[in-house]
Amino acid sequence: MLRPWPILLALALPAAATTTNHDHNHSNICQTLAHHHPHLPLTLPSSPLYPTHNTYWSARQTALHPACFVSPTSTAEVAQTIRFLTTHRAPFSVKGGGHTAFEGGSNADDGGVTIDLVGLNSVVVSGDRGTVSVGAGNRWINVSEVLDPLGLAVVAGRSSTVGVSGLALGGGISYFSGGRGWACDNVRRYEVVLASGEVVEASVEENADLYWALRGGGGSSFGVVTRFDLVAFEQGELWASSRVYPGAATNRTLIPLMHELLVKGLAEDHAAHTYFVMTYAAELGGYVVLSDEFHATHSDLASPPEVFAGFHDAALPTLSINTRLSNVSRLSRDIEQAPGLRQTWWVTSVAATATPDLLLDIVPLWEEYVARLIAAAAADNSTVSPFLIYHPISSNILEAMQVNGGNALGLKPEDGPLMIVQLTLSWTSTGMDEAVETGSKELIDKINALADSRGESSKNGYIYMNYAGKTQDVFAGYGKQSHAKLRHVAKKYDPRGELRDLWKGYFKV
Ligand SMILES: Cc1cc2nc3c(=O)[nH]c(=O)nc-3n(C[C@H](O)[C@H](O)[C@H](O)COP(=O)(O)OP(=O)(O)OC[C@H]3O[C@@H](n4cnc5c(N)ncnc54)[C@H](O)[C@@H]3O)c2cc1C
Ligand SMILES: *[C@@H]1O[C@H](CO)[C@@H](O)[C@H](O)[C@H]1NC(C)=O
Ligand SMILES: *[C@@H]1O[C@H](CO)[C@@H](O)[C@H](O)[C@H]1NC(C)=O
Ligand SMILES: *[C@@H]1O[C@H](CO)[C@@H](O)[C@H](O)[C@H]1NC(C)=O
Ligand SMILES: *[C@@H]1O[C@H](CO)[C@@H](O)[C@H](O)[C@H]1NC(C)=O
Ligand SMILES: *[C@@H]1O[C@H](CO)[C@@H](O)[C@H](O)[C@H]1NC(C)=O
Repeated sequence: MLRPWPILLALALPAAATTTNHDHNHSNICQTLAHHHPHLPLTLPSSPLYPTHNTYWSARQTALHPACFVSPTSTAEVAQTIRFLTTHRAPFSVKGGGHTAFEGGSNADDGGVTIDLVGLNSVVVSGDRGTVSVGAGNRWINVSEVLDPLGLAVVAGRSSTVGVSGLALGGGISYFSGGRGWACDNVRRYEVVLASGEVVEASVEENADLYWALRGGGGSSFGVVTRFDLVAFEQGELWASSRVYPGAATNRTLIPLMHELLVKGLAEDHAAHTYFVMTYAAELGGYVVLSDEFHATHSDLASPPEVFAGFHDAALPTLSINTRLSNVSRLSRDIEQAPGLRQTWWVTSVAATATPDLLLDIVPLWEEYVARLIAAAAADNSTVSPFLIYHPISSNILEAMQVNGGNALGLKPEDGPLMIVQLTLSWTSTGMDEAVETGSKELIDKINALADSRGESSKNGYIYMNYAGKTQDVFAGYGKQSHAKLRHVAKKYDPRGELRDLWKGYFKV
């Protein structure tokens, strides 16, 4: 079909004449986009703004260089961008807060386009204080800075610069998950740009299948979410205690306490939230353990909430204690992890049983890997920071996940409680990349094999998308039923498989 106006454009701008005929030459896709949509904010590699868009939490993502960034400032502009990219069959990626650890998770490779949602930055509280409408380019700090002064909160991420979008689309573990489930369970409504460029809303009443899928199924199989309407609630300061212990002297005491919280304590106190970190830090004398504890209603700094009392036993040696009452903004800044290092995250989950043995027996497997990493880093003049983190999914969280017909994660109260076992590594030398990816996969395989051998694997081998390694089979961990339904929804809203084929780099149903 002849389209007259690109030809006129070509005549007016001779340099562009070749590009209009080469829509499939992706190195020219940005020029073509600029010609078709001259008002769309577009940043080429030559622009001084390019490095700002190309800033990611993980250095592995910053290392990629898309042909350009498009940074729409409205839903209509997102729709134009998506319609253009799918029509021209151009590969692309979408950046929310840019916190995916592996390369390409939210940045396009050479020749592709990255849509940076940073311009969708509105945060609007409803008149009745019950809902906050959040533009998809916001980080959680931008939300809490509006809500804290109002005495409101949402089920948000725990770290300030993490994006609202990626966290809420993959799940979203929050300080407030005990009584309310994960971030995805607290989205009332989404505004979504589909592969066709059509803009739809998804809620319990409208496009309910899409609403279900977006609550844990990720974005990249379904559409670009432009707005999240989040449930807001009254919240003052939280009680928080960050406690660092010498690992060798304490882990065999603290892990059983954590197990007790998973199977009992947390389910009895829905205002409590915690996670448990083990790391190796030569400057702190070797292995250290961090217990990060939060309570949404406790306000007495003189004594801890009953649920955490075991961790506060004066007989336990500590390296540092930081107990405070704090708003969400300040807490999330405390938990911030600086950008700029190479990063990988890998994850599995195990079933909670009557004893803490499995959680204890995972530790020596990890230590063996840490010893190898330290040797490899020394040989490669690299730093390395290894973390093993336990995140409890207690039964109350699983129950809260069943609201609105349940989310896409495939987790049922009768399958729990579960412990998420997360491996996080940061390092500096590219020479370490392969050893880290292979070694991390091996460790996760070993942990799964150990759990299997004891009949203590989680029901479907649930894999939390937001902590998963690039090659992990996330959706297999959602169980057959949920996975099949997600595929069905993806096919309905992306009938030509355009997002499947063109949206690069993340977990696809
Ligand atoms: C320091 C740190 C702290 C963290 N803390 C927590 C925590 O407390 N709780 C927790 O659950 N997780 C946490 N995470 C994990 C976090 O949830 C994931 O890394 C998440 O993907 C980050 O979202 P993002 O928008 O920043 O990422 P991005 O890398 O920008 O996006 C992730 C994926 O979502 C897609 N996407 C982005 N925006 C949209 C959109 N609007 N529509 C459709 N698809 C989109 C991207 O294309 C990509 O595929 C943390 C991560 C880091 C690095
Ligand atoms: C694509 O465009 C670039 C830049 O104009 C050019 O160098 C390259 O040869 C083109 N490739 C193809 C296959 O046409
Ligand atoms: C989000 O918060 C960060 C840190 O406070 C700030 O630099 C940035 O400008 C904020 N973005 C918006 C859109 O308010
Ligand atoms: C959060 O608390 C800190 C310290 O008390 C305070 O300085 C800051 O202004 C508060 N932030 C918001 C957004 O209310
Ligand atoms: C756990 O404790 C054991 C026994 O004291 C010790 O050998 C091991 O190094 C500790 N591991 C960590 C990660 O703290
Ligand atoms: C090791 O790395 C540091 C920091 O990146 C660098 O300053 C130093 O020159 C490197 N040493 C060698 C021997 O490569």
